[in-house]
Amino acid sequence: MVRAIDLNGFGGPDVMVLAEVPEPKPGHGEVLIEVAAAGVNRADLLQRQGFYPPPPGASPLLGLECSGVIAGIGDGVRDWAVGDRVCALLSGGGYAERVVVAATQVLPVPDGLDLGAAAGLPEVAATVWSNLVMTAGLRANQLVLIHGGGSGIGTHAIQVAKALGARVAVTAGSAEKLARCAELGADVLINYKEDDFVAVVRAERSGAGGSGADVILDNMGAAYLGRNVDALAEHGRLVVIGMQGGVTAELNLGALLRKWGAVHATNVRARPATGAGGKAEIVAEVRGQLWPLIADGTVAPVIAAELPIEEAAEAHRLLDSGEVVGKVVLRVAEL
Ligand SMILES: NC(=O)c1ccc[n+]([C@@H]2O[C@H](COP(=O)([O-])OP(=O)(O)OC[C@H]3O[C@@H](n4cnc5c(N)ncnc54)[C@H](OP(=O)(O)O)[C@@H]3O)[C@@H](O)[C@H]2O)c1
Repeated sequence: MVRAIDLNGFGGPDVMVLAEVPEPKPGHGEVLIEVAAAGVNRADLLQRQGFYPPPPGASPLLGLECSGVIAGIGDGVRDWAVGDRVCALLSGGGYAERVVVAATQVLPVPDGLDLGAAAGLPEVAATVWSNLVMTAGLRANQLVLIHGGGSGIGTHAIQVAKALGARVAVTAGSAEKLARCAELGADVLINYKEDDFVAVVRAERSGAGGSGADVILDNMGAAYLGRNVDALAEHGRLVVIGMQGGVTAELNLGALLRKWGAVHATNVRARPATGAGGKAEIVAEVRGQLWPLIADGTVAPVIAAELPIEEAAEAHRLLDSGEVVGKVVLRVAEL
């Protein structure tokens, strides 16, 4: 048996209880990880409330990413060995002492990082790289608008976009968060409570090629759909990754069509493990292209807080409070 956070029904943070669950066994193509730390994601809050069930076949336990040490190897795994220090993109199960994951979703801990910082990387790295680069094709000298610049996703996306040579605009709800975004490299700071992001982004880049953002990374969904389309430049790509502002909205196709624009909506968790656009492909790209930028310090993990796993409820409250900039991490063991 291993210790894990289990759910005593769905609801507020206190439905999470530390319990003993059977130790998972690695199957073909899988590895067993002794978990050092697990990243906390907004999706975990939704799963805890019963709004985001795990995909078929995934662990019912919370936790979409972890770091740790490989403790067991399934048949057919050749790239990893017991004792390797790793982090991994999970479909669930990270809030536990041990977790099983496909070997193709495992990454080495980047040079210079400790296991606490590495736990907060796989989910943001896979989400940001797959959306900004693989889906939206963000390139140097383009303007990208990142909504929620102070979030775990936002703080990572700012740095990745700057590393690609893009100009970065962000929205956030306070001057303090915007100041932190500026430290991470953001060029244009928009307080969404005071300023109209459409007007700011259009003014930022106007002239040949139209006006507005070439790429928008959106966490708000329905609430921002119309204004996001208005804020796109010609050939602009809107990528919706979060629905904090609802799921249903009206799309003005005329406005999109006149800009030859595109609206994408994607998620990482429900992608297949392998095949075109699957997790293995994303993780391989992340390892090849993004990991060197982390190893040389161009992109750094932004960890707002690390709490022991016994305080998972407090960690969820903290993320939900909106007071943190960057990631919250749960420490499971000192390895
Ligand atoms: N599709 C995927 O595969 C995928 C994967 C990972 C995450 N996500 C999504 O990405 C988003 C960020 O995830 P996370 O774990 O990094 O969450 P997080 O750290 O909890 O961040 C949520 C952010 O939303 C911001 N926000 C709230 N109202 C806003 C508004 N009106 N305009 C702009 N920003 C606003 C908050 O910033 P302020 O305090 O400044 O308001 C906060 O920084 C979530 O929506 C999550 O579901 C999607």
